[in-house]
Amino acid sequence: MSNHKTLKVKNCSLYKLNKIKDPRGNITFLESNEHIPFEISRVYYLYDTPSGAERGGHAHYDLKQLVVAVSGSFDVVIDDGQNREIIKLLRPDEGLFISSMVWRELKNFSGGAVCLVLASNFYEESDYIRDFNEYIKILNQP
Ligand code: TYD
Repeated sequence: MSNHKTLKVKNCSLYKLNKIKDPRGNITFLESNEHIPFEISRVYYLYDTPSGAERGGHAHYDLKQLVVAVSGSFDVVIDDGQNREIIKLLRPDEGLFISSMVWRELKNFSGGAVCLVLASNFYEESDYIRDFNEYIKILNQP
């Protein structure tokens, strides 16, 4: 598994991704279960994000994700119900791993930012928790 630094927020970490430097430009690559701790089932990306827009604002019961600023920069707020951190993503060779049951919000997108997300499952609306109070309630269920 690539180098990673654990964060205060439970089960989240910042991955230093492979980078093959070349005078023609750089390459970063990711393989399921090799460089990230899950099997990739889905890829999506956010782009043309207008300034001031905020995305996310939810947690997932099961989904695990790796978030990469492949271009530009943005902030990811992560919260596990006890700790909250703001992670600034601004390098294409760095990925934020967000595990299941972690609240996230994406904001402060720079112009031209592209947010690439690798996800462990197909899209499933029933996997979302879209209300923060509801999220805290679920976390505190015995
Ligand atoms: P959503 O995950 O709520 O966006 P964000 O968390 O980035 O603010 O998704 C927005 C819409 O896009 C929602 O109607 C569902 C749809 N969508 C899919 O159909 N498939 C996907 O893989 C994703 C990520 C979203």
